Amino acid sequence: MLEKRICGGSGLSLSVLGIGCWSFGGGSGDYWGPQDQGDVDAVVRTALDRGVNYFDTAEGYNGGRSEESLGRALQGRRHEAIIGSKISPTNTEPETLRRHCEASLRRLQTDVIDIYMVHWPIPAPGVPDAFAALQALQAEGKIRAIGVSNFGVAQMTEALATGARIGANQLCYNILSRAIEIEILPLCRERRVGVLGYMPLQQGILTGKYRSLDEAPPARLRTRHFRGDRPGSRHGQTGEEDLVLQILDGIRRIAERLGVPMGHVALAWTFHTPGITSVLAGIRNLAQLEDNLAAAALMLPPEIVAELDALSDPLKQRLGPNADYFAGEARRRTR
Ligand SMILES: NC(=O)c1ccc[n+]([C@@H]2O[C@H](COP(=O)([O-])OP(=O)(O)OC[C@H]3O[C@@H](n4cnc5c(N)ncnc54)[C@H](OP(=O)(O)O)[C@@H]3O)[C@@H](O)[C@H]2O)c1
Repeated sequence: MLEKRICGGSGLSLSVLGIGCWSFGGGSGDYWGPQDQGDVDAVVRTALDRGVNYFDTAEGYNGGRSEESLGRALQGRRHEAIIGSKISPTNTEPETLRRHCEASLRRLQTDVIDIYMVHWPIPAPGVPDAFAALQALQAEGKIRAIGVSNFGVAQMTEALATGARIGANQLCYNILSRAIEIEILPLCRERRVGVLGYMPLQQGILTGKYRSLDEAPPARLRTRHFRGDRPGSRHGQTGEEDLVLQILDGIRRIAERLGVPMGHVALAWTFHTPGITSVLAGIRNLAQLEDNLAAAALMLPPEIVAELDALSDPLKQRLGPNADYFAGEARRRTR
Protein backbone atom coordinates (compact mmCIF):
# COMPACT_ATOMS: atom_id res chain seq x y z
CA MET A 1 0.00 0.00 0.00
CA LEU A 2 1.09 3.55 -0.66
CA GLU A 3 2.69 5.52 2.15
CA LYS A 4 0.53 8.20 3.77
CA ARG A 5 1.79 11.36 5.42
CA ILE A 6 0.06 13.78 7.79
CA CYS A 7 -0.54 17.12 6.09
CA GLY A 8 0.95 19.76 8.40
CA GLY A 9 -1.23 20.58 11.38
CA SER A 10 -4.45 19.61 9.56
CA GLY A 11 -4.45 16.03 10.89
CA LEU A 12 -5.39 14.78 7.40
CA SER A 13 -3.43 11.76 6.21
CA LEU A 14 -2.65 11.93 2.47
CA SER A 15 -1.13 9.35 0.15
CA VAL A 16 2.31 10.47 -1.10
CA LEU A 17 0.97 10.26 -4.65
CA GLY A 18 -2.15 12.31 -5.26
CA ILE A 19 -4.19 12.71 -8.43
CA GLY A 20 -4.12 16.11 -10.14
CA CYS A 21 -7.55 16.58 -11.71
CA TRP A 22 -6.94 19.66 -13.85
CA SER A 23 -7.67 17.75 -17.08
CA PHE A 24 -10.93 16.26 -15.74
CA GLY A 25 -14.03 17.56 -17.50
CA GLY A 26 -11.88 19.08 -20.23
CA GLY A 27 -13.08 19.76 -23.76
CA SER A 28 -11.41 20.72 -27.02
CA GLY A 29 -10.88 24.39 -26.06
CA ASP A 30 -9.34 23.60 -22.67
CA TYR A 31 -5.66 23.47 -21.64
CA TRP A 32 -5.39 19.66 -21.68
CA GLY A 33 -7.93 19.04 -24.46
CA PRO A 34 -10.80 16.53 -24.27
CA GLN A 35 -10.88 14.18 -21.31
CA ASP A 36 -13.07 11.09 -21.35
CA GLN A 37 -15.27 10.62 -18.24
CA GLY A 38 -14.93 6.84 -18.54
CA ASP A 39 -11.17 7.23 -18.09
CA VAL A 40 -11.72 9.59 -15.14
CA ASP A 41 -14.04 7.05 -13.46
CA ALA A 42 -11.51 4.27 -13.99
CA VAL A 43 -8.56 6.36 -12.73
CA VAL A 44 -10.40 7.55 -9.61
CA ARG A 45 -11.79 4.16 -8.62
CA THR A 46 -8.58 2.24 -9.30
CA ALA A 47 -6.58 4.92 -7.48
CA LEU A 48 -8.79 4.46 -4.40
CA ASP A 49 -8.40 0.66 -4.66
CA ARG A 50 -4.62 1.11 -4.73
CA GLY A 51 -4.36 3.41 -1.71
CA VAL A 52 -4.36 6.84 -3.39
CA ASN A 53 -6.70 9.03 -1.37
CA TYR A 54 -5.93 12.64 -2.38
CA PHE A 55 -7.63 14.28 -5.37
CA ASP A 56 -6.78 17.84 -6.35
CA THR A 57 -9.08 20.14 -8.27
CA ALA A 58 -10.07 23.84 -8.45
CA GLU A 59 -13.08 25.92 -9.38
CA GLY A 60 -10.92 27.38 -12.14
CA TYR A 61 -10.18 24.07 -13.87
CA ASN A 62 -12.24 23.86 -17.08
CA GLY A 63 -14.80 26.33 -15.77
CA GLY A 64 -15.87 24.07 -12.85
CA ARG A 65 -16.14 20.91 -14.96
CA SER A 66 -13.09 19.34 -13.27
CA GLU A 67 -14.93 19.49 -9.92
CA GLU A 68 -18.09 18.10 -11.55
CA SER A 69 -16.19 15.26 -13.19
CA LEU A 70 -14.41 14.34 -9.94
CA GLY A 71 -17.70 14.48 -8.03
CA ARG A 72 -19.24 12.09 -10.55
CA ALA A 73 -16.31 9.66 -10.37
CA LEU A 74 -16.42 9.63 -6.56
CA GLN A 75 -20.10 8.72 -6.34
CA GLY A 76 -20.54 6.05 -3.67
CA ARG A 77 -16.90 6.37 -2.57
CA ARG A 78 -16.69 9.97 -1.42
CA HIS A 79 -15.91 8.85 2.16
CA GLU A 80 -12.67 7.18 1.01
CA ALA A 81 -11.27 10.33 -0.58
CA ILE A 82 -9.65 13.55 0.56
CA ILE A 83 -10.67 16.33 -1.80
CA GLY A 84 -8.63 19.48 -2.28
CA SER A 85 -10.18 22.35 -4.20
CA LYS A 86 -9.21 25.96 -4.72
CA ILE A 87 -10.89 29.35 -4.81
CA SER A 88 -9.62 31.70 -7.50
CA PRO A 89 -7.90 34.81 -6.07
CA THR A 90 -10.43 37.14 -7.72
CA ASN A 91 -13.27 35.46 -5.79
CA THR A 92 -11.97 35.96 -2.25
CA GLU A 93 -14.15 38.89 -1.15
CA PRO A 94 -16.06 37.24 1.77
CA GLU A 95 -19.58 36.99 0.28
CA THR A 96 -18.24 35.92 -3.12
CA LEU A 97 -15.95 33.37 -1.48
CA ARG A 98 -18.88 31.81 0.39
CA ARG A 99 -21.02 31.62 -2.76
CA HIS A 100 -18.17 30.09 -4.73
CA CYS A 101 -17.39 27.55 -2.02
CA GLU A 102 -21.04 26.49 -1.99
CA ALA A 103 -20.99 26.15 -5.80
CA SER A 104 -17.87 23.96 -5.55
CA LEU A 105 -19.60 21.79 -2.94
CA ARG A 106 -22.55 21.31 -5.30
CA ARG A 107 -20.34 20.45 -8.27
CA LEU A 108 -18.36 17.99 -6.15
CA GLN A 109 -21.63 16.49 -4.80
CA THR A 110 -20.34 16.69 -1.25
CA ASP A 111 -21.04 18.63 1.93
CA VAL A 112 -17.42 19.27 2.88
CA ILE A 113 -14.19 20.12 1.04
CA ASP A 114 -11.28 18.62 2.94
CA ILE A 115 -8.62 21.16 1.95
CA TYR A 116 -9.85 24.47 0.52
CA MET A 117 -6.99 26.55 -0.86
CA VAL A 118 -6.59 30.09 -2.15
CA HIS A 119 -5.28 29.27 -5.64
CA TRP A 120 -2.86 32.20 -6.03
CA PRO A 121 -1.91 35.02 -3.61
CA ILE A 122 -4.30 37.93 -3.16
CA PRO A 123 -3.34 41.57 -2.56
CA ALA A 124 -2.47 42.24 1.10
CA PRO A 125 -5.50 44.44 1.97
CA GLY A 126 -7.88 41.57 1.18
CA VAL A 127 -6.05 38.98 3.25
CA PRO A 128 -7.65 39.41 6.73
CA ASP A 129 -11.24 39.34 5.37
CA ALA A 130 -10.59 36.39 3.07
CA PHE A 131 -9.05 34.29 5.82
CA ALA A 132 -11.81 35.28 8.27
CA ALA A 133 -14.33 34.04 5.68
CA LEU A 134 -12.40 30.78 5.33
CA GLN A 135 -12.36 30.36 9.12
CA ALA A 136 -16.14 30.91 9.19
CA LEU A 137 -16.63 28.18 6.55
CA GLN A 138 -14.37 25.91 8.60
CA ALA A 139 -16.37 26.58 11.77
CA GLU A 140 -19.57 25.68 9.86
CA GLY A 141 -17.99 22.38 8.71
CA LYS A 142 -18.05 23.28 5.00
CA ILE A 143 -14.29 22.97 4.76
CA ARG A 144 -11.95 20.88 6.92
CA ALA A 145 -8.57 22.55 6.43
CA ILE A 146 -7.67 25.97 5.08
CA GLY A 147 -4.91 25.94 2.49
CA VAL A 148 -3.03 28.27 0.21
CA SER A 149 -1.29 27.74 -3.09
CA ASN A 150 1.69 29.50 -4.66
CA PHE A 151 2.19 31.54 -1.48
CA GLY A 152 5.77 32.68 -0.82
CA VAL A 153 7.36 33.48 2.53
CA ALA A 154 5.93 37.02 2.85
CA GLN A 155 2.44 35.90 1.76
CA MET A 156 2.42 32.90 4.11
CA THR A 157 3.59 35.09 6.96
CA GLU A 158 0.69 37.50 6.27
CA ALA A 159 -1.83 34.66 6.05
CA LEU A 160 -0.59 32.99 9.24
CA ALA A 161 -0.74 36.36 11.04
CA THR A 162 -4.54 36.40 10.56
CA GLY A 163 -4.70 33.54 13.08
CA ALA A 164 -6.06 31.06 10.53
CA ARG A 165 -4.49 27.63 10.78
CA ILE A 166 -2.99 26.94 7.36
CA GLY A 167 -2.88 23.20 6.72
CA ALA A 168 -1.22 23.16 3.31
CA ASN A 169 0.61 25.23 0.73
CA GLN A 170 0.45 23.84 -2.81
CA LEU A 171 3.49 24.69 -4.91
CA CYS A 172 5.30 23.68 -8.06
CA TYR A 173 7.86 20.97 -7.26
CA ASN A 174 9.88 18.62 -9.41
CA ILE A 175 13.52 17.90 -10.15
CA LEU A 176 13.64 20.80 -12.65
CA SER A 177 11.67 23.15 -10.35
CA ARG A 178 13.25 23.27 -6.91
CA ALA A 179 12.76 26.95 -5.95
CA ILE A 180 10.68 26.09 -2.88
CA GLU A 181 13.65 24.32 -1.28
CA ILE A 182 15.40 27.69 -0.87
CA GLU A 183 12.98 29.59 1.40
CA ILE A 184 9.39 28.37 1.32
CA LEU A 185 9.78 24.73 2.29
CA PRO A 186 11.87 25.52 5.40
CA LEU A 187 9.16 27.96 6.57
CA CYS A 188 6.42 25.39 5.89
CA ARG A 189 8.30 22.80 7.92
CA GLU A 190 8.82 25.27 10.78
CA ARG A 191 5.15 26.35 10.83
CA ARG A 192 3.75 22.83 10.31
CA VAL A 193 2.22 23.61 6.94
CA GLY A 194 2.00 20.55 4.68
CA VAL A 195 3.38 20.96 1.16
CA LEU A 196 1.54 19.57 -1.85
CA GLY A 197 3.87 19.48 -4.84
CA TYR A 198 2.24 20.19 -8.19
CA MET A 199 3.51 19.49 -11.72
CA PRO A 200 5.85 16.69 -10.55
CA LEU A 201 6.42 15.54 -14.15
CA GLN A 202 6.91 19.07 -15.53
CA GLN A 203 3.70 18.47 -17.48
CA GLY A 204 5.00 15.24 -19.05
CA ILE A 205 8.48 16.51 -20.05
CA LEU A 206 10.08 14.42 -17.27
CA THR A 207 8.53 11.18 -18.52
CA GLY A 208 10.95 11.30 -21.46
CA LYS A 209 8.12 10.80 -23.96
CA TYR A 210 9.23 13.75 -26.10
CA ARG A 211 12.38 13.16 -28.15
CA SER A 212 12.97 16.92 -28.33
CA LEU A 213 11.45 19.94 -26.63
CA ASP A 214 9.84 20.98 -29.90
CA GLU A 215 7.75 17.79 -29.82
CA ALA A 216 6.05 18.85 -26.57
CA PRO A 217 2.80 20.83 -26.84
CA PRO A 218 3.87 24.51 -26.76
CA ALA A 219 1.65 25.29 -23.74
CA ARG A 220 3.84 23.00 -21.64
CA LEU A 221 6.92 25.11 -22.39
CA ARG A 222 5.70 28.38 -20.88
CA THR A 223 7.77 28.28 -17.71
CA ARG A 224 11.10 30.00 -17.02
CA HIS A 225 12.95 26.80 -17.89
CA PHE A 226 12.22 27.45 -21.56
CA ARG A 227 12.83 30.31 -23.99
CA GLY A 228 10.63 33.35 -23.45
CA ASP A 229 9.80 33.58 -27.16
CA ARG A 230 7.92 30.26 -27.12
CA PRO A 231 4.15 30.65 -27.77
CA GLY A 232 2.11 31.66 -24.71
CA SER A 233 5.19 32.39 -22.63
CA ARG A 234 5.05 35.59 -20.56
CA HIS A 235 8.14 35.43 -18.34
CA GLY A 236 10.29 37.47 -20.76
CA GLN A 237 13.51 35.60 -19.95
CA THR A 238 15.94 33.66 -22.12
CA GLY A 239 15.28 30.34 -20.38
CA GLU A 240 17.74 27.57 -19.51
CA GLU A 241 17.03 25.03 -22.23
CA ASP A 242 20.61 23.71 -22.58
CA LEU A 243 20.77 23.03 -18.86
CA VAL A 244 17.31 21.41 -18.89
CA LEU A 245 18.36 19.12 -21.75
CA GLN A 246 21.57 18.16 -19.91
CA ILE A 247 19.56 17.28 -16.80
CA LEU A 248 17.00 15.27 -18.78
CA ASP A 249 19.88 13.37 -20.33
CA GLY A 250 21.44 12.77 -16.91
CA ILE A 251 18.16 11.44 -15.49
CA ARG A 252 17.81 9.16 -18.53
CA ARG A 253 21.30 7.70 -17.92
CA ILE A 254 20.61 7.12 -14.22
CA ALA A 255 17.30 5.44 -15.10
CA GLU A 256 19.07 3.17 -17.61
CA ARG A 257 21.58 2.16 -14.92
CA LEU A 258 18.70 1.35 -12.56
CA GLY A 259 16.76 -0.42 -15.31
CA VAL A 260 13.60 1.67 -14.86
CA PRO A 261 11.86 4.32 -16.99
CA MET A 262 13.12 7.86 -16.65
CA GLY A 263 9.75 9.18 -15.42
CA HIS A 264 9.88 6.77 -12.48
CA VAL A 265 13.20 8.19 -11.34
CA ALA A 266 11.94 11.78 -11.67
CA LEU A 267 8.69 11.12 -9.81
CA ALA A 268 10.31 8.94 -7.12
CA TRP A 269 12.86 11.71 -6.43
CA THR A 270 10.07 14.09 -5.32
CA PHE A 271 9.02 11.81 -2.44
CA HIS A 272 12.44 12.06 -0.80
CA THR A 273 12.37 15.73 0.13
CA PRO A 274 11.61 16.28 3.82
CA GLY A 275 8.48 18.40 4.26
CA ILE A 276 6.73 17.23 1.07
CA THR A 277 3.40 15.68 2.07
CA SER A 278 2.11 14.55 -1.31
CA VAL A 279 2.87 15.14 -4.97
CA LEU A 280 0.01 15.56 -7.40
CA ALA A 281 0.47 14.04 -10.81
CA GLY A 282 -2.00 14.87 -13.57
CA ILE A 283 -3.23 11.43 -14.60
CA ARG A 284 -5.54 10.95 -17.58
CA ASN A 285 -5.93 7.20 -17.99
CA LEU A 286 -5.29 3.85 -16.32
CA ALA A 287 -1.95 3.30 -18.09
CA GLN A 288 -0.59 6.56 -16.64
CA LEU A 289 -1.97 5.67 -13.20
CA GLU A 290 -0.25 2.26 -13.24
CA ASP A 291 2.98 3.82 -14.45
CA ASN A 292 2.96 6.50 -11.74
CA LEU A 293 2.05 3.97 -9.04
CA ALA A 294 5.10 1.93 -10.09
CA ALA A 295 7.18 5.10 -9.72
CA ALA A 296 5.74 5.66 -6.26
CA ALA A 297 6.87 2.16 -5.27
CA LEU A 298 10.45 2.83 -6.38
CA MET A 299 12.79 3.40 -3.45
CA LEU A 300 15.80 5.38 -4.64
CA PRO A 301 18.99 4.66 -2.70
CA PRO A 302 20.40 7.75 -0.91
CA GLU A 303 23.43 7.89 -3.22
CA ILE A 304 21.12 8.12 -6.27
CA VAL A 305 19.06 10.88 -4.62
CA ALA A 306 22.33 12.73 -3.94
CA GLU A 307 23.44 12.23 -7.56
CA LEU A 308 20.11 13.61 -8.83
CA ASP A 309 20.34 16.56 -6.43
CA ALA A 310 23.81 17.40 -7.72
CA LEU A 311 22.70 16.96 -11.34
CA SER A 312 19.83 19.46 -11.04
CA ASP A 313 21.47 21.88 -8.60
CA PRO A 314 22.95 24.21 -11.30
CA LEU A 315 19.39 24.74 -12.68
CA LYS A 316 18.04 25.37 -9.18
CA GLN A 317 20.73 28.06 -8.74
CA ARG A 318 20.03 29.63 -12.15
CA LEU A 319 16.25 29.80 -11.70
CA GLY A 320 16.56 31.06 -8.10
CA PRO A 321 14.01 31.30 -5.28
CA ASN A 322 11.07 32.58 -7.39
CA ALA A 323 8.52 29.76 -7.12
CA ASP A 324 6.27 31.35 -9.78
CA TYR A 325 7.73 29.59 -12.79
CA PHE A 326 5.33 31.32 -15.17
CA ALA A 327 6.53 34.88 -14.45
CA GLY A 328 9.81 36.75 -14.34
CA GLU A 329 11.03 38.80 -11.37
CA ALA A 330 8.98 41.95 -12.09
CA ARG A 331 5.63 40.18 -12.47
CA ARG A 332 6.02 37.25 -10.11
CA ARG A 333 2.93 36.55 -8.02
CA THR A 334 4.68 34.43 -5.40
CA ARG A 335 6.64 36.56 -2.89
N1 LIG B 1 -1.89 25.23 -7.66
C1 LIG B 1 -1.53 25.49 -8.89
O1 LIG B 1 -1.32 26.65 -9.28
C2 LIG B 1 -1.35 24.34 -9.84
C3 LIG B 1 -0.71 24.52 -11.08
C4 LIG B 1 -0.54 23.41 -11.90
C5 LIG B 1 -1.00 22.17 -11.52
N2 LIG B 1 -1.65 22.03 -10.31
C6 LIG B 1 -2.18 20.73 -9.86
O2 LIG B 1 -1.17 19.75 -10.02
C7 LIG B 1 -1.65 18.71 -10.87
C8 LIG B 1 -0.51 18.15 -11.69
O3 LIG B 1 0.11 19.14 -12.49
P1 LIG B 1 0.06 19.09 -14.06
O4 LIG B 1 -1.05 18.20 -14.46
O5 LIG B 1 0.08 20.48 -14.56
O6 LIG B 1 1.49 18.48 -14.43
P2 LIG B 1 2.17 17.04 -14.29
O7 LIG B 1 1.51 16.25 -13.23
O8 LIG B 1 3.62 17.28 -14.18
O9 LIG B 1 1.91 16.41 -15.72
C9 LIG B 1 0.71 15.80 -16.02
C10 LIG B 1 0.66 15.36 -17.46
O10 LIG B 1 1.75 14.50 -17.78
C11 LIG B 1 1.29 13.42 -18.58
N3 LIG B 1 1.54 12.18 -17.82
C12 LIG B 1 1.22 11.90 -16.53
N4 LIG B 1 1.64 10.67 -16.18
C13 LIG B 1 2.26 10.18 -17.27
C14 LIG B 1 2.90 8.94 -17.53
N5 LIG B 1 3.02 8.00 -16.58
N6 LIG B 1 3.43 8.75 -18.75
C15 LIG B 1 3.34 9.70 -19.72
N7 LIG B 1 2.72 10.88 -19.53
C16 LIG B 1 2.19 11.11 -18.31
C17 LIG B 1 -0.19 13.64 -18.84
O11 LIG B 1 -0.38 14.44 -20.00
P3 LIG B 1 -0.72 13.92 -21.47
O12 LIG B 1 -1.29 12.55 -21.37
O13 LIG B 1 -1.67 14.92 -21.99
O14 LIG B 1 0.62 13.97 -22.14
C18 LIG B 1 -0.58 14.51 -17.68
O15 LIG B 1 -1.68 15.33 -17.90
C19 LIG B 1 -2.77 19.36 -11.69
O16 LIG B 1 -3.66 18.42 -12.23
C20 LIG B 1 -3.39 20.24 -10.65
O17 LIG B 1 -4.23 19.48 -9.80
C21 LIG B 1 -1.81 23.09 -9.48
